Amino acid sequence: MKNVFDLTGKSVLVTGATRGIGRQIAQGFLDAGATVYGTGSSAESIKRLEGSGIEAFAADIREPGAMDSVIETLSKKHGKLDVLVNNAGVATNLPAGFFKEEDIQNVTQTNFVGVFRASQAYYKIHKKKGGNIINIASVLGMVGTKFAAVYCGTKGAVINMTRALAVEWAGSGYRVNAICPGFIDTDMTDMIKERPEVLEQMKARIPLSRLGKPEDLAGAAVFLASDAAAYVTGQAIVVDGGVTSGI
Ligand SMILES: NC(=O)c1ccc[n+]([C@@H]2O[C@H](COP(=O)([O-])OP(=O)(O)OC[C@H]3O[C@@H](n4cnc5c(N)ncnc54)[C@H](OP(=O)(O)O)[C@@H]3O)[C@@H](O)[C@H]2O)c1
Repeated sequence: MKNVFDLTGKSVLVTGATRGIGRQIAQGFLDAGATVYGTGSSAESIKRLEGSGIEAFAADIREPGAMDSVIETLSKKHGKLDVLVNNAGVATNLPAGFFKEEDIQNVTQTNFVGVFRASQAYYKIHKKKGGNIINIASVLGMVGTKFAAVYCGTKGAVINMTRALAVEWAGSGYRVNAICPGFIDTDMTDMIKERPEVLEQMKARIPLSRLGKPEDLAGAAVFLASDAAAYVTGQAIVVDGGVTSGI
């Protein structure tokens, strides 16, 4: 029987592949046979990918045009970039009343505007070749929490932008989906792990009783990238240990 999850021959670009979820999603693609490219925010940070089998590009997602040249290069090299994963993101842990203008700009430019620009570049550069976009949103785009108002807003926006682009670009051969991780053990959740009482409260609310591991996201990403998901578009797949399932 054909392995519908096999990604051999496919080219994939993962933004924010230097660490955390993006790194393990990129690894999942490598393990499934794809040719994998990754970005980080700086020439320094992408050194982490040396020797990984993932060719790296420095591209600050907040800069207009930063992703265009990367996508153009890969599109020319492969004829078609098969999958774009918009994973790069930042979080804050600030009461809404104390958010400064620079915090608002940083979170919205990275988590929402950057995702739209990269998607738009992928569409424009590819013209009518079609494609597959996977946006890493969050369960905090579906429910709210304290000290993350702007982050929650950007992730909710990414989920609904995913639906809108899926509808608009379906006729051009694009599938667009999102993955919503729950609370995952990465640098981003250091702010939770540094406070044992908060970590214990958090775990008590997760039916599977642990934070997710970055590699827990790889399966959903490989599925959406593969032919197994050929009829799946406009969806948000939740990978959260059950945290949004109920009380
Ligand atoms: N961890 C969680 O609990 C959780 C839950 C739900 C959703 N998510 C989402 O999952 C994604 C990955 O999160 P993570 O936990 O893996 O975070 P992380 O460990 O902090 O890694 C963030 C990644 O994003 C990159 N990045 C940040 N700002 C960037 C910029 N301006 N330009 C290019 N790359 C940039 C970083 O690259 P550098 O190394 O170059 O800085 C790094 O590779 C994010 O979108 C996040 O919102 C995370």
